[in-house]
Amino acid sequence: MILKVARIGHPVVRAAARPVPPEVLASADFQHLVDDMVDTMHEYEGVGLAGPQVHVGLRVAVLEVPASDERARVAVPLTVLVNPVVTPLGEEKEQAWEGCLSIPDLRGVVPRWNLLRLEALDRHGQPYTVEAEGFFARVIQHECDHLDGGVYLDRMEGLRTLSFLREFERFVASREDE
Ligand code: NI
Repeated sequence: MILKVARIGHPVVRAAARPVPPEVLASADFQHLVDDMVDTMHEYEGVGLAGPQVHVGLRVAVLEVPASDERARVAVPLTVLVNPVVTPLGEEKEQAWEGCLSIPDLRGVVPRWNLLRLEALDRHGQPYTVEAEGFFARVIQHECDHLDGGVYLDRMEGLRTLSFLREFERFVASREDE
């Protein structure tokens, strides 16, 4: 089922989400929620979606980067993050463009850690750890910020790069293709 996406201005986007308790993780409702979040991410062609963006105040997010995405050097398979913890590895940050389904039609340049360790539970409650780098690490940081009520605008060093999607495609994306 496709869920309604909350946009900035709706308080749920700015509220910190609570950890998913074990009894919720074990419920059929939670599995449906995860399925619906994946459907919603695909429908709106996002690479990630967090609980608060679909009016659910739980620390759950989904992400997937198709191989066709020019921002990623490698595709990222569908990943479900439950109660994630992110630890930056090293000091290196990268600047790159981001957008967000809760902030439609805008793009901005955001600094993010280049390398990190993600510790989380999968949709069935099994713990896993991955090291992520580049665009994969960027998407993880973007989604985990949502769980604390954060959006990428908060992480921008200034608003001078903030662009409407159409102008971004006209003046930025087309130039990067050359
Ligand atoms: Ni977002």
